[in-house]
Formats: sequence, C-alpha cells, structure tokens
Amino acid sequence: MSTNIAVLGTQWGDEGKGKIVDLLTPHFPIVARYQGGHNAGHTVYVDGRKFVLHLIPSGILHDGVRCVIGNGVVVDAQALFREVDELQDLGVEVDGRLVVSDKAHLILPYHRELDVLSEARRGERKIGTTSRGIGPAYEDKIGRRGIRICDLLGDREALAAEVRENVSARNRIIRETTLDWREVLDQLVRDGDRLRAWVGDVSVILAEAFRQGQRVLFEGAQGTLLDIDHGTYPFVTSSNSTVGGVCTGLGVPPRAIHGTLGVAKAYTTRVGEGPMPTELHGPEGEQLRESGQEYGASTGRPRRCGWYDAVVVRYAVRINGVDALALTKLDVLDGLSTIDVCTAYEVGGRVLTEFPSDLRVLATARPRYETLPGWSRPTRGVTSFDALPREAQEYIRRLEAITGVPVALVSTGSDRGDTIIRPESALSTWLRAH
Ligand code: IMP
Repeated sequence: MSTNIAVLGTQWGDEGKGKIVDLLTPHFPIVARYQGGHNAGHTVYVDGRKFVLHLIPSGILHDGVRCVIGNGVVVDAQALFREVDELQDLGVEVDGRLVVSDKAHLILPYHRELDVLSEARRGERKIGTTSRGIGPAYEDKIGRRGIRICDLLGDREALAAEVRENVSARNRIIRETTLDWREVLDQLVRDGDRLRAWVGDVSVILAEAFRQGQRVLFEGAQGTLLDIDHGTYPFVTSSNSTVGGVCTGLGVPPRAIHGTLGVAKAYTTRVGEGPMPTELHGPEGEQLRESGQEYGASTGRPRRCGWYDAVVVRYAVRINGVDALALTKLDVLDGLSTIDVCTAYEVGGRVLTEFPSDLRVLATARPRYETLPGWSRPTRGVTSFDALPREAQEYIRRLEAITGVPVALVSTGSDRGDTIIRPESALSTWLRAH
C-alpha cells in the first residue's frame, strides 16, 4: 500500500470501521468520507471515553487532522451542527479542520417524515431503515430536484424556486399535511449561514493535497452488502458504500486509491430487514449479541447476529479489490467451545460459492459450515498474534484461506490499544514507513 487508502466495510455495516480509521488516522493528515449520512454511527473509545460520530469522520478526534465530507454524502445540517457542538463541548476543535463539499445534497426537514411514511407503506416489506431521511434525500438527488449546499450560498431567487419545487413534490406525496415552502426556505437560509465557514470544493482541495504529497484516508460508511448496487437490494442503503463511491463521492480519480483495507467482524451482524444466511436465532445468537454489545450506535436497535460468512466477505473482496482485512471483535468469540464458519451456500441441492444477485435465492440459501475449535484463554486486549491462543491463531489463518485475503490487523477489544498489527503484513511495513 502506498499513499491513499480506502477503509470500508465488507459485511452489512457495523464492522468496527470507526476504530480502524481512528487507529490509522495518525498516519494521514486528511480523512474523507464519501457516502452515506448520519445513518452511520462510529463508536470510538479514547482513554475510556466514548464518542459516537455519525457524520464527521472520526479523524476529528486527532489534533490537526483535516476531515472532509464529500459530495456523495447527504447532509442533515441540524445533525451536523449537533455533532459539531458536542465535539466542541468535549474540547475538540472543529473550525478550520472540517470541509463540507459544496456539492453535497441536503437532507431536508421533511425527508425523515417521508422515510418513516415509506416504511409504513411497505408494511411487511419494510427495509428497516434508520429513519434518518437518507433514502428520500438520495431520491431527490437522483430525481434532480435535490438541494445542494452550494444552493444555500448562492442566488436566493434560484433557491426559492428549488425549494418550492421540492416542497410541492413532498406535498403531492403527503396529502394530510401541507408544508409551506417559505418556512423551509427560511430554515435553509439560516443553515447556510452556519455552514458557510466549512464549505469548500472537495475535489479541488483533495487534488491540491495529492499534489503536495499529503496522504488521504477514504472512509466508507455502512458496508458492501448495504451498497445500493451490490448489496442485498432492496434491503440496502441508498448510496455506493463500495470502493467506486470514493471516486464519485469525492471527485477523485481511481488512481488516487492506492490500497483498500476491508473491515470484517470475526462473526456477522446486520440491522434492518432482509436475508442473512448465517443468522443464529437461538441462544447462540443471543450470546454473540450480549458479549459483542451488538446494539445499533445510531438507533440502539438490537443487531441480528450469526457466524462469519466467507461467501459475503469473498464477494466484498472481489467488488472492492480488498488488499487486506482488518478483523474486528475477535474477543467476542472468547469462551465458545466451537465456532462455525460458512464457506458456501446450498440452494436447492446446488452448492453456491459466489454471492447470489437474486434475493430470493439468498433467502433460501442454507449455509455450509466448517466447525473450528474455540479457545478458553481470553483474547481481549492481546496485542500480538503469537500471544493469541493457538485455536484463535488457527481461526484467523482459516479465515484468510477461505476468504482469500490476508488479515493484516486484528482488533481484540474496544480501546485503541486492543489491536494486533501483524508485523509481516504490507500494512505494517507501510505504517512503519509513514
Ligand atoms: P437507511 O440507510 O437509513 O436508508 O437504511 C437502510 C438499511 O441500511 C437498513 O437496513 C439500515 O439498518 C442499514 N444501515 C444504514 N446505516 C447503517 C449503519 O451505519 N450500520 C448498519 N446498518 C446501517
């Protein structure tokens, strides 16, 4: 890995990307988010203090690091202000370090309402969204009636016309209550005044940073299986969380991405609806949820838990060109007598080793498991591979073999220090050099 790397999720989100980004950030003067919105929730523990970041890259917790919110992100201005205020209350300086793309689309005051309504209309077929208005904001973007941050800072007449158009589209959908576009306009003008200090042309800023030889970490939100194109559609989010999103969501060329670090949990979780072949419904799932504290950082919803699914991670490795994996929450498996790993699916007598496109196929897929021995000595807080119980080392080696990619980093607890960086990995060589 040379200069800029992308860190992204290889499962259904919540892989622990926040901790990995936080760990790597001292090696990068710039961290840039390329998609999603405040549906994401990165929990980071620093010296025992808990930070939950939704929109601002976790790089903000490191002095001097510049944080970029790209055009591919949808921005809820109120959520951003809340986050900035909270950080500033904790003594974290944000001004002068945060750049928000002038091309980013806004989550408008009624997008949340539309999200909730759309879920209610779907009934049993609901997606299980975070109700943050993410989908409706992206719908407006694709429908070419979205409002971008630059619109708030430009011609007032043009903004008024756009707001009128957008609000009337909303009023056509929600007939019970009529929204006055002038009120929305006033709110947006106030938001624009506060946003102004942070707004910039992200593509220009990053091109200049590359020219000066500054390294950039591209931070993904959600995960590959939640990608609008490559995920378990329709049970996905509305953006490209896979590596292609880096280029479109920040305005950088493919050659600016020099390596991709995929983040995978040592087991699998998902929030929201949709098939999950390795889901455990009984006490085993419950045990993973409790020991992994698998509750959503944004919504507090209990996450569905199951065994590591190598079909899923192999798929993410292919889609994103993952060079190495960061394996997180290994310690959650401590104390289990055996651990299953899904190596393939069985569908109607056929064996599938590639992730199916058709959700109906996925819904009937039965995981083909390989059972590995667990370990009794705790791995929590272990910082070197050799100090792990032999069975835990075997588990990691087996995951590497069936996933087809090296595990460069292992996380053994929630704190920054609870991490193993494998000395023989390309990542370790790179980190030592930078
Ligand atoms: P939305 O992004 O709120 O529209 O939700 C769509 C789907 O993505 C739902 O299944 C959510 O639970 C899921 N989702 C969105 N953001 C995250 C995340 O940060 N972690 C895990 N799942 C997420």
